[in-house]
Amino acid sequence: MHQLIIFASGKGSNAAALIQYFKEHKIAEVALIVANKAEAGVLTLAKNEGIPSLVVDKKSFNAPELVATMQSHNPALIVLAGFLWKIPSGMVTAFEGKIINIHPALLPAYGGKGMYGHHVHQAVIAHGEKQSGITIHEVNEVYDDGRVLLQASCPVLKGDTEDTLANRIHQLEHFYLPRTIHFLLQSKL
Ligand code: GRF
Repeated sequence: MHQLIIFASGKGSNAAALIQYFKEHKIAEVALIVANKAEAGVLTLAKNEGIPSLVVDKKSFNAPELVATMQSHNPALIVLAGFLWKIPSGMVTAFEGKIINIHPALLPAYGGKGMYGHHVHQAVIAHGEKQSGITIHEVNEVYDDGRVLLQASCPVLKGDTEDTLANRIHQLEHFYLPRTIHFLLQSKL
C-alpha cells in the first residue's frame, strides 16, 4: 500500500476527494495530513477519518524534525492541496520528485506568489479569459514552477463569478487529482 502525505490549509475538499477515491482503489492511503492553520477544515476531516494530522507553524515547518516525521511514513507522494507556504529546500531535496501541487489555473498563466484561491479566479475573469483549468505539477523551490504532470481545462462562462468558476475548477480537481496520483503510483510499481 502506497502512503500519501497531504499538505493543506483550507477546506480540504481535495483531501476528501483523495481519501474517498483511495477507499475505492486500494493502492494508496493517506498516512498524514499537515496543515498550517489550526482552524483548517481539513483537520476536521482528518479527525473524522482517523488520519493522523499535524499543525505546523513557520518554525516547525522549517525544522528537520518535520522531514524526519514525514520520512517515518515512507511516503510515495506528498500532495500539496491548497497549501500556501513555499516548501523549504531541505524538504524538496529529501523528497525529490515526490512532492506534487495542484494549482487552479493553466500554468504558467496565473501562477506565482500571491496567485492562489480566489485571486487566481478573479484575475482570470478580469482578463476576459475564455478558458481556465487546473495544473498538477512537481514541486521545486520556485512557486508553481516544477514539471507539469497534467493539465485539464474548462470554459470560463459569460457571467461567471469567482465562486462559479471556483466550483467548476474544483470539479476538475476532484476528478483529476486522485486519478493522476493513481497513474503516478502505478508507473512507479
Ligand atoms: C484548490 O483549488 C487548489 O487548486 C488550490 O487550493 C484549493 C484548495 O481547495 N491550490 P480545497 O481546500 O481542497 O477545497
